[in-house]
Amino acid sequence: MTDRPIDTVSVALGPRSYEVRIGSGLIARAGAEIAPLLHRPRVAVLTEEQVAALHLDALQAGLAADGITMQALALRPGEATKSWPHLARAVEWLLEMRVERGDVVVALGGGVIGDLAGFAAAILRRGVRYVQVPTTLLAQVDSSVGGKTGINTAQGKNLVGAFHQPSRVLADIDVLETLPHRDFLAGYGEVVKYGLLGDAVFFAWLEAKGPSLAAGDPALRQEAVRRSVAMKAAIVSRDETETGERALLNLGHTFGHALEAATGYSDRLLHGEGVAIGCQLAFDLSARLGLCPQEAPGRLATHLQTMGMKRRLAEIPGDLPDADALIALMAQDKKVVDGRMRFVLSRDIGAAFVTDAVPRKSLGAFLDEALGAQ
Ligand code: GLY
Repeated sequence: MTDRPIDTVSVALGPRSYEVRIGSGLIARAGAEIAPLLHRPRVAVLTEEQVAALHLDALQAGLAADGITMQALALRPGEATKSWPHLARAVEWLLEMRVERGDVVVALGGGVIGDLAGFAAAILRRGVRYVQVPTTLLAQVDSSVGGKTGINTAQGKNLVGAFHQPSRVLADIDVLETLPHRDFLAGYGEVVKYGLLGDAVFFAWLEAKGPSLAAGDPALRQEAVRRSVAMKAAIVSRDETETGERALLNLGHTFGHALEAATGYSDRLLHGEGVAIGCQLAFDLSARLGLCPQEAPGRLATHLQTMGMKRRLAEIPGDLPDADALIALMAQDKKVVDGRMRFVLSRDIGAAFVTDAVPRKSLGAFLDEALGAQ
């Protein structure tokens, strides 16, 4: 706990507006944060086993401090949990716990739990409210905010889901101390994404502060989460269901999702690592197509290297499929419109844009080269 004030970022969506609270000690005061949302003093918590071992007792104590009781279901950790069988288990458990329409579900975990619990809440009794308590950097800066919920299927990632906004997000900076360094850096990939897509000043701030932030400085971590969430909140408020501008948040994701699929959604490549490599590829491709100055991908590469992050395909362990197979995986992405692949490219750091005008031949040659550099 510190004396540092808690930051509040509002996601302005009319009657579905909510606050993202960011700071130290938020799990310890979860009861006070959640109580105003409750009709009766009980919540159902969906979490996963590793997170439960680290943080569930603290959440229980934080809720109990305000007289709120909880029941919890801890699912298996890992991306495989974002699937039909675990969704069914979660929904049936919530029904067994007699969660009513007016109750609140709490998602305690990273992106997998947040997406799964949010989707379970979206379909339970045609929609109950939920609170996100994200426990990874990736979930704090991205997946817990904006209401994208869902599961993966054999056909691809996040292909089944719903837009269902949380009623509150509690991003407790203290939990980041328990994150393995690799997971922290993977989440940092999404932080860098915000600077790259629309805020060159933030990117320069990350260049200066990134190493201290990764080393554990809590004030810098809070500021990085606040600025990332503020950017996401502003974009989501203008384009909740991704009819336009929200697609910019997918910078690095078309390449990243294909790489995740190619590596079997395994430990070979974490989601945020795929996003960082994907951002580098998007900037390299932008420069190659003459859309952005060569200095921009160079600056990004230097920053990722300084941070000790993967940035090249060669840094992914094991073999990768060839360019044609990677392009086929990209074509399965949700971002395909009328059969045309859409890319988020950039005119410079902080100046991303969406385009479907990348010639298939140029893309193939670019990927051949990127793979050849392995
Ligand atoms: N993660 C991208 C989005 O929420 O739109």
